[in-house]
Amino acid sequence: MPIARKLLVLPGDGIGSEVIDQVCRVIKIYEEYRAISFDTKNGLVGGVSYDELGTPLSDETLNDALEADAVLLGAVGGVKWDNVERQHRPEAGLLRLRKEMGLFANLRPATCLPALAGSSSLKSELVSGLDLLIVRELTGGVYFGEPRGITDIGGGEKRAIDTQIYTSNEIRRVLHVAMEMARKREKKVHSVEKANVMETGVLWRQIATSVGEGYSDIALEHMYADNCAMQLVRNPKQFDVIVTDNLFGDLLSDCAAMLTGSLGMLPSASLGEEDSFGRRKALYEPVHGSAPDIAGQGKANPIATILSFAMCLRYTFDLDEDAKALEQACADVLDAGLRTADIMQEGKTLVSTEEIGEEVCLAFGKLL
Ligand code: IPM
Ligand code: MN
Repeated sequence: MPIARKLLVLPGDGIGSEVIDQVCRVIKIYEEYRAISFDTKNGLVGGVSYDELGTPLSDETLNDALEADAVLLGAVGGVKWDNVERQHRPEAGLLRLRKEMGLFANLRPATCLPALAGSSSLKSELVSGLDLLIVRELTGGVYFGEPRGITDIGGGEKRAIDTQIYTSNEIRRVLHVAMEMARKREKKVHSVEKANVMETGVLWRQIATSVGEGYSDIALEHMYADNCAMQLVRNPKQFDVIVTDNLFGDLLSDCAAMLTGSLGMLPSASLGEEDSFGRRKALYEPVHGSAPDIAGQGKANPIATILSFAMCLRYTFDLDEDAKALEQACADVLDAGLRTADIMQEGKTLVSTEEIGEEVCLAFGKLL
């Protein structure tokens, strides 16, 4: 009897359902070739959930997510909900899901496949062979800090406030994740903050230093976030693992994504604390957004989402070989010259979301 593995699939908004459809095909192929079956359930999150249920994250979806072995998410958001109040916006649903699931460690690997070095906005010699991992703290910082809000202060003036908060434990646990990741890679960690300006930066640096003392095999360096942004576009290959807070991680990962050729290529895994069985709650999603401008046109690049499923195989189901096969399948399809619009280059073949999804399935099947 194959073991059932519970997957919750949340397509969300915009291009979310198109890219998730391709992952569902990959899952079918995978089940066919391996004696594995996924117990897959679909759910609503984001704007589509708000439209149908009046909330971007219903209790039902949240409970399903808490019960699942892994959640696969497409994207949330869109201009359609721009004027909805903040707690009902699509993004609020995603943020609450991350928080309630305790997904404090967000892994965003940026690798530049040889076939795409020419699609980057940087010179190809700067990015070809790039392989870095951003570990972004995901459940703290200014995203969740209180107080926050906009108040009238009289005379027609208003005052807006956001609060950046970090406890030592929040910093410590994400630093440990970064160190453990580095152990399986090039053993180099850059801890990124603004200790020159921010109190949270000072504490971040203190805790990073003390965590680092327990990892004599890892080279730990501290870097200011502004410098890190500059170094990412100056010489990105100097990095192995970058660990940083929620907001800096959001910015730096978009920047790192473009180094790889397109935002449409970057997957992510968001992980919680390990329980006594070594299991952790997990959500897998592409780094890109819902791209409402191209939604429904078959133009979206599903590779970031497919690679997110590869991360799911690796981190939730411990199927590293199969994860590698899926990553290889994506690389093979690009090597064969197929491109969605975001990574189109002269002399290559422009294909739709579905076509590239189908080719990845074929290539994956051959490798299994
Ligand atoms: C991301 C996104 C989200 C974030 C939005 C959609 C809330 O930009 O995952 O990077 O800011 O975290
Ligand atoms: Mn972002």
